[in-house]
Amino acid sequence: MNQSLRKNSCIYLDYAATTPCLPEVVAAMAPYWSEKFGNPASQLHSYGWQSKAALDQATSRIAAVLNTDAKQLVFTSGASESIQIFLFSLVETLWREAGQRAVHALSSPLEHNAVVKTLKKLSDLGWLELEMVKSLPDGRIDFADLQLKTRPETKLISVMAVNNELGSFNPIDQISQWCSARDIFFHTDATQAMGKFPIPLHHWPITALSFSSHKFQGPKGVGGLFVRRPWLQNLSNWSFGGGQDHGFRSGTQAVPLVVGMAEALDHASLSLEKNWQHVSGLGARLLDHLRAKKILFRLNGPAWEGCEWNSSTSPSLPTRTPYVMNLTFDDQPIDLRLSSLAGLAFSVGSACHGVDFSMSHVLRGLGLSQNEARSTLRLSFGAPSTLAEIDAAAEILTSAFAKAP
Ligand SMILES: Cc1ncc(COP(=O)(O)O)c(C=O)c1O
Repeated sequence: MNQSLRKNSCIYLDYAATTPCLPEVVAAMAPYWSEKFGNPASQLHSYGWQSKAALDQATSRIAAVLNTDAKQLVFTSGASESIQIFLFSLVETLWREAGQRAVHALSSPLEHNAVVKTLKKLSDLGWLELEMVKSLPDGRIDFADLQLKTRPETKLISVMAVNNELGSFNPIDQISQWCSARDIFFHTDATQAMGKFPIPLHHWPITALSFSSHKFQGPKGVGGLFVRRPWLQNLSNWSFGGGQDHGFRSGTQAVPLVVGMAEALDHASLSLEKNWQHVSGLGARLLDHLRAKKILFRLNGPAWEGCEWNSSTSPSLPTRTPYVMNLTFDDQPIDLRLSSLAGLAFSVGSACHGVDFSMSHVLRGLGLSQNEARSTLRLSFGAPSTLAEIDAAAEILTSAFAKAP
């Protein structure tokens, strides 16, 4: 195999875990480490003015991509923090307003653990009465069940945009309309959609949205939270100190990281459809290769055809993202094939499980058996993925999973 195709001697197909920083992003951040290093809160000298100008400009760029404004954005260390601080602050505020009565909320068992575990903690505290909405067999939320379970007293619904393990794309446009018509707060974890699909906040009445920069070729350690006006001002503050980020999350802002995130998001936003089509073609090619080699496998999540590009304002969204592909091989435990798969960087269950082969809550929620989960891997693609890499990856998968005749 052509070694030049391999990064770190391995074909990288784990872009849902993280992505490489674009060179333009690294260059954009460079001046803000040791040259223009001022604290943006220092407003008595030019060092501070310079940093504040850079922060303001980066914030405006991010707000423009989301069709919102800077006053509705908070910067965090990543999606996990965005999710946690929003859900905690909102639920605490509503619980107090309700005279310390538990707040009724809906979510799905297929959410990322950042949501699942935060909601569980809030339930354990007695602040939340949490009800789970059923999933469809392809991993998308069952919108009819969500409608059925919505009560007059429901205050919060949290449903992810794109599932990080399966690639299923939830109808967040419809859910946001449903919530908005009933004064329900709708939070979406958009970590796997941001920078990959347009999220028009001026069309979709989403209350809050969380994202992480390193998923769209920005730096690690920075993310964002959008909270629609006037809720940010009405929520109890998450952290206390210098009053940064509208007083909601105090702490000196990471100017270089926010500048890098803005640069990465701008780049991604200029090529959303082009990148989507590119990656969608790569995924289809990989599936064709495996079928041609008669490898026995099943694609989990929605059918690949569901990733046909529809604009975000068209009547229906895609049912899947092409960036994530989850495959179950016929009774072929991945952990017994690691040496054959050594040339491929992939993940099992979810990257957050590291080398833990215990069944992920998402695969369990989808109804996979222990054996099926053990024979399941996730490949995830990125704009830098190439045809040659896909062909080479197909070879590796074929040699790992071909059954003796
Ligand atoms: C859907 C989803 N939500 C949240 C997160 C957490 O992101 P971070 O680790 O950057 O905080 C991830 C990361 O994999 C994710 O895929």
